Amino acid sequence: MINVVPMTEKDITSVVAIENMSFAAPKSEAVFREDEHKYLVVKDSGKVVGYIGIEKIAGEIHIINMAVDPACRGKGIGKQLLEAVLNNSDVFYLEVRTSNRAAIKLYQQYGFEITGIRKKYYQDNSEDALTMRRGINGKHT
Ligand SMILES: CC(C)(COP(=O)(O)OP(=O)(O)OC[C@H]1O[C@@H](n2cnc3c(N)ncnc32)[C@H](O)[C@@H]1OP(=O)(O)O)[C@@H](O)C(=O)NCCC(=O)NCCS
Repeated sequence: MINVVPMTEKDITSVVAIENMSFAAPKSEAVFREDEHKYLVVKDSGKVVGYIGIEKIAGEIHIINMAVDPACRGKGIGKQLLEAVLNNSDVFYLEVRTSNRAAIKLYQQYGFEITGIRKKYYQDNSEDALTMRRGINGKHT
């Protein structure tokens, strides 16, 4: 059974393992501990297979991080995570690497639009970030 639940302290080791497999410049365990309350995890029969972090800043919701275990990708888990946080009454924002076609396509499917580019946003390889925004009542395909 797959379900999306708030992350607890016990989930952090699994989340960090997925983070390390998913990003060239992963966030540290300390960051996840500090931000524990901002994260949801998706579990498959009790095993953590992905997570998403959100932060509300001045009435806007920012998606700060999301990833799915590489062994479990392409099965709709990313969609389930997004559906767990999106609603039609808030505005959502995020940044994504310009090379990350899978994530950009996923976000566009859920009504995010590219609003700009942040030059050399990522310090590890100086890659640009696209900024994306999903308006109130964003499309939900
Ligand atoms: C992006 C990510 C979270 C998607 O998770 P997932 O569980 O594989 O996604 P889903 O199976 O729910 O697929 C949802 C949509 O994503 C897009 N997508 C997923 N994998 C894709 C791929 N390899 N190529 C192109 N689009 C892809 C598609 O739009 C797909 O919808 P479709 O199946 O109707 O075409 C996952 O690839 C991941 O963890 N990547 C590494 C971390 C990362 O880049 N996070 C985002 C940071 S901004």
